[in-house]
Amino acid sequence: MDDRSFVAAQDFLLSAKTYWSTTMYRTLRDKSAAANKDVVDEQVETVASIAQCIEDAPLYQFYAWLERHLQRMKYAGRYGLVPYHHERRDDLLSALNQAFDAEKILDIDTSLALPAYYTGVDIHQHPGGVWSDAIAGMVYERGARTTTPLTGAAEKDVHERFTDLVLGECSPTTVLDMGCGFGKSTQPFVRRLPDSSIDAVDLSAPCLRLAADTALQSQAGNVRFRQMNACDTDFDADSFDLVTSTMVLHELPPKTIEELLDEAFRVLSPGGRMVHLDFYCVPDAFRRFVHYGHARRNNEPYMQPLAELDLSVLVESKGFVDVEITPFQESDRVDLNADDAWRFPWTVISATKPEGAAS
Ligand SMILES: C[S@@+](CC[C@H](N)C(=O)[O-])C[C@H]1O[C@@H](n2cnc3c(N)ncnc32)[C@H](O)[C@@H]1O
Repeated sequence: MDDRSFVAAQDFLLSAKTYWSTTMYRTLRDKSAAANKDVVDEQVETVASIAQCIEDAPLYQFYAWLERHLQRMKYAGRYGLVPYHHERRDDLLSALNQAFDAEKILDIDTSLALPAYYTGVDIHQHPGGVWSDAIAGMVYERGARTTTPLTGAAEKDVHERFTDLVLGECSPTTVLDMGCGFGKSTQPFVRRLPDSSIDAVDLSAPCLRLAADTALQSQAGNVRFRQMNACDTDFDADSFDLVTSTMVLHELPPKTIEELLDEAFRVLSPGGRMVHLDFYCVPDAFRRFVHYGHARRNNEPYMQPLAELDLSVLVESKGFVDVEITPFQESDRVDLNADDAWRFPWTVISATKPEGAAS
């Protein structure tokens, strides 16, 4: 497959996804509101009442089918990300900088046991997930460029905006990014905190290799990437001023979220802040119905359980104080008070480990 065909096909898929996110979404929303009006008052709409009204309607069936299959075509099939990268495998791997050891920027743990929730599903419909193939990090990186189709190329992306928010409230000298993927969530902290020490962990060796390669290219000397389970790290207790994660909690079963919170509490210094960016505050029943459907169609089995957790109570039960859970505007083009396009329910979840707390 040549580059031009691949790019054209992926552009087409993105345009179709944009149509799905806007025109189709609005039509579905209006149809759902009209159908529900005959059955229940808007105030008492639930996911179940909405499902009852529109799940069998041809519009919803097509909406759901299109979402599932646009994502499938993004990764697999004739113009998919996986076959495209597979054809270029040798070149891609030989282009990765091999100076990791010399720079001590990457630590891969070949004996690390990957949890069953992680290996048991092809997350995002990515064949083999983000961990099983040496080129999976590059496939994921390319795919992630179009995760938020409505974000303009010229504006600050979601990770930059999140970093602005976090660093507007604290000036950490030690940072841990849990579930850093290919480093996109880590990079803004690395750039903005040149004198701080930044650690980033993930389960995926292919993603970590790409993250380290990118850091080497930018000559960042303040970051280390390590293959570790974020719920069970090797870091000393009380060793970070700031612990963050971006788009990780919704990939974890509830019990694993608890373990991650326990680990964040352990490694944070007293007075340190934990800040997660994830998908949580869903404003109404229709968007909840659509969000749960998205989770199923995108192979994300723990998205719905996260949205149904009482996170505030859970985080406090782990010993944290000053818990804040607030909707997050991921793009200048988004109006948090409007419902004119499909979007993720971006949310910032933050809390402090109290001064004097024992780990
Ligand atoms: C959606 S990606 C987000 C990556 C990155 N934070 C970003 O914003 O681009 C979720 C990441 O969490 C990682 N992950 C899942 N469970 C994990 C765990 N228990 N420990 C460490 N990383 C984990 C996955 O390998 C994946 O890279």
